[in-house]
Amino acid sequence: MEKAASESSLACARCGEPALLQCPKCAQLKLPREGAAFCTQDCFRAVWSSHKSIHTKLDKLTSGLTTQQSLEGWKYCLKKGRARTSQLPRFDWTGPLRPYPISKTREVPDEIEKPDWALDGIPKIEPESDLQKRVEIKTSEQIERMRETCRIAREVLDAAARVIKPGITTDEIDRVVHEETIARGGYPSPLNYHFFPKSCCTSVNEVILHGIPDARKLEDGDIVNIDVTVYYKGVHGDLNETYFVGNVDEASKQLVRCTYECLEKAIAIVKPGVRFREVGEIINRHAAMSGLSVGKSYCGHGIGELFHCAPDIPHYSRNKAVGIMKAGQTFTIEPMINAGVWHDRLWPDEWTAVTADGKRSAQFEHTLLVTETGCEVLTARLLSSPDAFPWLKP
Ligand code: MF3
Ligand code: CO
Ligand code: CO
Repeated sequence: MEKAASESSLACARCGEPALLQCPKCAQLKLPREGAAFCTQDCFRAVWSSHKSIHTKLDKLTSGLTTQQSLEGWKYCLKKGRARTSQLPRFDWTGPLRPYPISKTREVPDEIEKPDWALDGIPKIEPESDLQKRVEIKTSEQIERMRETCRIAREVLDAAARVIKPGITTDEIDRVVHEETIARGGYPSPLNYHFFPKSCCTSVNEVILHGIPDARKLEDGDIVNIDVTVYYKGVHGDLNETYFVGNVDEASKQLVRCTYECLEKAIAIVKPGVRFREVGEIINRHAAMSGLSVGKSYCGHGIGELFHCAPDIPHYSRNKAVGIMKAGQTFTIEPMINAGVWHDRLWPDEWTAVTADGKRSAQFEHTLLVTETGCEVLTARLLSSPDAFPWLKP
């Protein structure tokens, strides 16, 4: 029991008399002083059995959170666009990973140009556009804007990659992505896209993609994918990479390296005249060679003034994608490679896609421009990019 600060004029939580004493546990947890102040030891003792439960309630709710975070209203993401909850939802989790509370919505300054979902969570132009059916050939002016935006997206991803280490939360990664994006005058495209609550996706271990940044601390041995999309000068640039956290087991190293190679090999065939469906053949062949499987539920996509548009580019073999590549098209390739089965399940948050068997999954993504002779990787690594991958060392 501590003396309440003398300038306070709090009433005893039991009898209403002026309170001079404060519950020490509440003070330690930085709980509101109202309801935690008492006039005498007698009053404090009299209510102790009911009072003490607020300490344990708070402890459970915020396990893994600092007190500051718990006071900022962190809650679990329950469902797209729905109210959040303070309780972990019931679910047949496929692996060891669990969701953690997510922080409050991050703000974007008024001066930054925003896509049409920023305010209400609903993309309006995108689903109605004829570019869902027809693959646009970009003008040189659009291409120049795509180059600038993709370069920014790369710089943002690199900044996020530099803070990865055991103990940092995926929410802290999201903060870096958010701040680095707005510092460059961009809008983080995922923020409020179909109600996605954060500024990037962070997908840990068995998460295939669309993981929501939250209060979970990265652990030594984890793998984490960071997927960044930036909206700048009216166009989107989209890329992702999977990183090692501390010392990772050999099988995870193989998984991440093979996924990197799948994307490299797919990029190598991109040029005018090649069938979109060929991309999946190349990726599947390389993954299968290492005994790995290819995620089938999510595809690469056209990108530009729209975040997601035609063409759809499946990453698996014997897919039914129609059409051939033409110079001036921009699209992503973003293979997801799994250590076990290809099948996925969705968490109750309706975003996080995990492997059905709980084994690990890795992903890499680039935004590409088809050129007359091949392709330009608009989100290519820079000389300044961090050395995240041992196989790229000279
Ligand atoms: N960047 C992802 C992609 O590669 C899309 C994320 S949408 C979000 O297509 F809403 F989940 F953020
Ligand atoms: Co993408
Ligand atoms: Co992406």
